[in-house]
Amino acid sequence: MQKIAVIPGDGIGPEVVEQAMRVLDAVAERRNLDLDFEEFPLGAGHYLKTGEVLSEETVGRLEHKDAILLGAMGDPRVKPGVLEKGVLLRLRFHFDQYVNLRPIKLFEGVPCPLVGDGRKIDIQFVRENTEDFYVGLGGRVTEGRSRTELTLIRKAYEVKFDVGIDLKREKDLAFQIGVVSRAGADRVVDFAFKLAKDSGIDLVTSVDKANVLTEIYGLWREAVERKSREFGIEREFQYVDAVALHMVRNPERFKLIVSPNLFGDILTDLGAAIQGGLGFAPSGNINPSGVSMFEPVHGSAPDIAGKGLANPVGAILSSALMLRTLGHAEAASDVERAVEDVLREGRNRTADIGGTTSTSKMGDAVVERLKMKKTQ
Ligand code: NAD
Ligand code: IPM
Ligand code: MN
Repeated sequence: MQKIAVIPGDGIGPEVVEQAMRVLDAVAERRNLDLDFEEFPLGAGHYLKTGEVLSEETVGRLEHKDAILLGAMGDPRVKPGVLEKGVLLRLRFHFDQYVNLRPIKLFEGVPCPLVGDGRKIDIQFVRENTEDFYVGLGGRVTEGRSRTELTLIRKAYEVKFDVGIDLKREKDLAFQIGVVSRAGADRVVDFAFKLAKDSGIDLVTSVDKANVLTEIYGLWREAVERKSREFGIEREFQYVDAVALHMVRNPERFKLIVSPNLFGDILTDLGAAIQGGLGFAPSGNINPSGVSMFEPVHGSAPDIAGKGLANPVGAILSSALMLRTLGHAEAASDVERAVEDVLREGRNRTADIGGTTSTSKMGDAVVERLKMKKTQ
């Protein structure tokens, strides 16, 4: 039996996760998988009721799971960052989920906002997930002279920054530190090149801004260079601004992109846009030898929550990524093919692409498709 923690979370999170779980049930029956689900009521509701974001005890219980399926975190009633950092980032860091795999694929039947017919967009996007400007080191200073000690603790290392600041003429200043370590860059770049090798991809595109942020992305480039040589797979370096341009002008040129955390966050929303919208984009926060967490790229979408308007495809495809990571490649492909078939048919289209199919009806369509295939 494999134990899966389910964190529906906020806004449309519970709506899309419900459909992902129905699909998981259907595929589990079809493939005889023994999946056990336990729900964890984290998010705004829990926080506003109890004052607790995420307890040690809950983290301890999650440690005994094989995977986590999450909807979304974030609520307009709660200050930005409390839930996003307190749950999402804390779990990514605690479980050392250093890979954020975000495949960008334009499915047949889904309208693409880019000009030109028959676009073939299929990019494996590998985002680093534990370092860069996400490490949460920073401060706000208003006094002339001050000293701040900042600590970064990761599974592989611990670093202390002793920052002395002399404001001179300014009265209010904020700073934030970005960190890339050799171990941190190596492991995610290694994952990217392995994925390229396994998928028959002969070019890895590395994203950075090494022309300005020379230190951290200089080190990043060294890792890419090393792994390119080790795997015998070609690499190209592109600046993030140019990648944004090419993703709009000619996304077909990209097969696999590996990116530091922050640029990866931004570019994968752009990626979601060119694959039809945020509702279509899945993601996996992966620790290949630990507990991984799967969630759609989108957030809690408070503007459409509770209306049955959310597209559950991103959440459903995230559950397929989960199945593959748990060793159920065939079940994962079943789910992906069922989604593809439903989208190609075009009878079920959610509101984000101009249709009238509700969240649960979209779930119905994928479940039906999975059941249908059983008899084929
Ligand atoms: P968002 O992704 O929630 O929404 C952006 C836009 O996309 C909205 O117009 C929304 O209606 C639309 N959209 C998103 N998902 C959709 C879906 N499945 N179907 C149809 N339309 C969809 O981003 P936001 O508005 O910037 O953030 C809202 C909240 O979510 C904030 O609190 C933010 O911090 C949080 N957030 C959480 C995550 C996460 O949990 N992984 C990711 C991004 C944002
Ligand atoms: C995402 C989100 C998160 C991120 C936020 C909510 C912390 O935007 O999953 O893409 O920046 O990684
Ligand atoms: Mn994001």
